[in-house]
Amino acid sequence: MRKAYIDAIGMYVPPKVVTNKDLEAMMETSDEWIRERSGIQERHHVDGECTTDLALKASQEALAIAGMNPEDIEHIVFSTMANDYFVPGGGPMMTRRLGIPGTPAVDIRMACSGYLYGLSISKAFIESGAYNNVLLITSEVQSVALDFSTAGRDTAVLFGDGAAATVIKATDEERGILSVKTHADGRYAEDLMLRTPSTLDNPFLTNELLDKGYGRVVMNGRSVFKHAITKFPEVIAEALEAAGVEKKEVKLVVPHQANLRITEAVANRLDLELHKVVFSNIHKYGNTTSASIPIALYEAQAEGKIERGDIIVVASFGAGFTWGASVIKW
Ligand code: ACO
Repeated sequence: MRKAYIDAIGMYVPPKVVTNKDLEAMMETSDEWIRERSGIQERHHVDGECTTDLALKASQEALAIAGMNPEDIEHIVFSTMANDYFVPGGGPMMTRRLGIPGTPAVDIRMACSGYLYGLSISKAFIESGAYNNVLLITSEVQSVALDFSTAGRDTAVLFGDGAAATVIKATDEERGILSVKTHADGRYAEDLMLRTPSTLDNPFLTNELLDKGYGRVVMNGRSVFKHAITKFPEVIAEALEAAGVEKKEVKLVVPHQANLRITEAVANRLDLELHKVVFSNIHKYGNTTSASIPIALYEAQAEGKIERGDIIVVASFGAGFTWGASVIKW
C-alpha cells in the first residue's frame, strides 16, 4: 500500500543566541527562574532575518540531503504563526524564494500543532496519489512579537526562533507515517493568542490597538500547562491505537518542545518505558512552535537515536487549543 515517509529533514536557527542572563538585562527575571520553570538555558533570535529567510535555509538543507532540486518539489505545505506579510502567506512566498513559481503551496496556521497538521495534510496528499512528494516547511519568528519588558516576562522567556523543512515522499515499502490524529478546541483561544490585526476592530490595525499590547503574544500559562499534560498522553494513545502499535514497540517519543516541565509531566503520565525515551532539546532553543518537533527529530537522528525501521511518536499541544500525535515507522 502506498505510504508517505519522511525522507529528509533540514533545520536552521538564526546565529544570534540569547541567554537567560541576556534576558535578565531586559526584564525582572533570573536564569534560575527560567531554568526551573521551563528547562530553557538559551534560545536563538533573529537579527533582521524574516520567516522565509529561515525557511529557505532549512529547505535548502533538506533538499540537499534528499538529493532534490527545488523544481522537484510537487507541493509546499507551510506552517508558521508569523509570516513575512499578513497576506499573502509563507507558502506562496516560498515558491519565490526557492525559484519555483507555479508550484502549489498551502499555508497552515495551527501554531505549535502546525507540524502535526502538516504531516496529516502531506500524508493525505501522498496516499491519495495526488502528489509524489511534499516539502513541509515550519518556520517561526516569534521574538518580534514578544514583550521583553517585565510585563511580558512569563511568555517572552519561553519562545525562540527557528525553522525546519521536511521532505515527505511516497513509498510502497512498509514504513512511513502510520497514523496522525489531530484535534482543535477554540473555547480556549484567548488562553494563548496574538490578537491584532483583527476583524474585531475596524480598522483592524491602529496605534491605539498596539498601545494596548494587542500586537504581542499573550498566554494564560497555567491553563496551557493543565490542558497540555492531559491532551498529550490522550492523543498519543489515540495515534498508537490507530497505527496498531503497542507502547513497548516505541523507540522514541519526540514531543513538541513547549517546556521541560510539560515534557516531564507527560512522561510521568505515560508508562515507564516511554518515560525513558522522551527526547528534549529545549535547553538550546526554547519553544520554536511548529518548528520544534522537526528540529528535535533532526537532532535525535544526528545523535543516532533514530534509525531506519524505528517506531517514533511525535506529539504536540498549543494555541487554539490544538493538539495531535503521529506514529512513524522511520
Ligand atoms: N521571571 C521571573 N518571574 C516570573 C517570570 C519570569 N520570566 N514570569 C512570571 N514570573 C512570576 C509571576 O509574575 C509570579 O509572580 P507572583 O507570584 O509575584 O505573582 C511568579 O513568577 C509565579 O508565576 P506563576 O504563573 O505561578 O508561575 P508558574 O509556576 O505557573 O510558571 C509558566 C509559569 C512557566 C508559564 C507555567 O505556567 C507554564 O509552564 N505554562 C505552560 C506555558 C507554555 O509552555 N507555553 C508554551 C506555549 S504553548 C505550548 O507550546 C504548549
